[in-house]
Amino acid sequence: MNDYSISALVLQDVVKGGKSLDKCLEKQTPIVSQICFGSLRNYFLYSKIIEKLLRKPINKKHSDLFNLLIAGLYSLDNLKKPAHACVNESVEAGSFLGKSWAKNLINAVLRNYLRKKTVLTEAAKQASLEAETNHPEWLVSLMKKDWENWRYVVDANNKKGPMTLRINQQRITRLDYQKMLEATQIQSKKGLFCEGALTLDEARNVDMLPGFAEGLVSVQDEGAQIAVSFMNLSPGLKILDACAAPGGKTCHILETYPDSDLVSVDKSGERLRLLHNNLKRLSLNAKILNSDLEDFEPKQKFDRILLDAPCSATGVIRRHPDIKLLRKPDDIGKLAIQQEKLIEHSFNLLAEGGELLYVTCSVLKMENDSVVKKFISENSDAEIKKINLSNISGKLKFSRTELGVQLFPTPEYHDGFYYSSILRKPK
Ligand SMILES: C[S@@+](CC[C@H](N)C(=O)[O-])C[C@H]1O[C@@H](n2cnc3c(N)ncnc32)[C@H](O)[C@@H]1O
Repeated sequence: MNDYSISALVLQDVVKGGKSLDKCLEKQTPIVSQICFGSLRNYFLYSKIIEKLLRKPINKKHSDLFNLLIAGLYSLDNLKKPAHACVNESVEAGSFLGKSWAKNLINAVLRNYLRKKTVLTEAAKQASLEAETNHPEWLVSLMKKDWENWRYVVDANNKKGPMTLRINQQRITRLDYQKMLEATQIQSKKGLFCEGALTLDEARNVDMLPGFAEGLVSVQDEGAQIAVSFMNLSPGLKILDACAAPGGKTCHILETYPDSDLVSVDKSGERLRLLHNNLKRLSLNAKILNSDLEDFEPKQKFDRILLDAPCSATGVIRRHPDIKLLRKPDDIGKLAIQQEKLIEHSFNLLAEGGELLYVTCSVLKMENDSVVKKFISENSDAEIKKINLSNISGKLKFSRTELGVQLFPTPEYHDGFYYSSILRKPK
């Protein structure tokens, strides 16, 4: 096997097998990872170009060959190696996949792409919205319906997201940690709006970050870091993190208010193990419960609830380009039903005068304002609390919506998140 045949099989597992890219790449090399991420970012455009270059469509039973061609096109455009090496290795990969008969086809498609790349790319973009946006048409339609700036979102989704750190301010200041990074030749810039955020010039393996194992720092996008400042926290509150794993926000709450009485619930045992490891690394404590939120019936009510609900993750496509292929149009409505149930159940666990922060990393109104609107209209004791953006509004790429705040992914900074704060009115 070589990098190209392995990449083709990974792509096959995602596109045909419906598996998540992160899972498929767990034991793969950085180069395979680069080829697969890049191929999926460009999948819709490359697919249309390949279709044009083929005399007849590739039979579905040979879709690994189609995926090998996608990986080949990505490599020609992006890898720092001579074009003839990319072509030769792709041809060789065909044999590793048991398709020696396709040698000439692979060779011809890749060489023709090299010759006519500009014309082919322009023609594909002109002919198809999917090729032009590198997104599925149904998703672009939803984004277009929701946002005038949908093109900005689509463009940001097609770029690589930056790596942002959350400094554990109980242990070290941001400035001192930035100096530690500089001493190890890692450059960073302050986040846009969170006191503890540092964005790296280039993504690194966490093992290269000084003090990571000792808990000085965690990896967390700034759009997620802002959750804590929207929760209106103060010392000693009883808090529920209702969908907590792998624990980014649980840990941030405890770093900010270590004496919080915090319960972290999640139905995934596997993801809760990550939460447990994060708490241990950061020397923090929370009560962890492996349960479906809908089965969780605590004796006492909570002052604050964070509901970071399962969602389409359309605000973090740049980190998970497989989402563009894995999500199906029906999923969004199904997720909205699940989200409505989770809000309903969480709200019942909230004390009078308490606040629930509803969060998704989706940019679709169906999962955001629409879910909250339905809930508010059916619950007379629920009221929207306007999120205070006075310290940060000039800096965020955001839109105030009818019932909350929508952050859009920005090329240099935060991912796409939605926030809505719901108050339980005192009787
Ligand atoms: C967006 S992730 C949470 C991320 C987390 N808050 C953080 O900051 O690291 C959503 C989580 O909801 C969990 N989940 C989904 N449905 C659930 C349910 N019915 N009850 C409890 N947890 C659920 C998933 O297992 C997943 O870990």
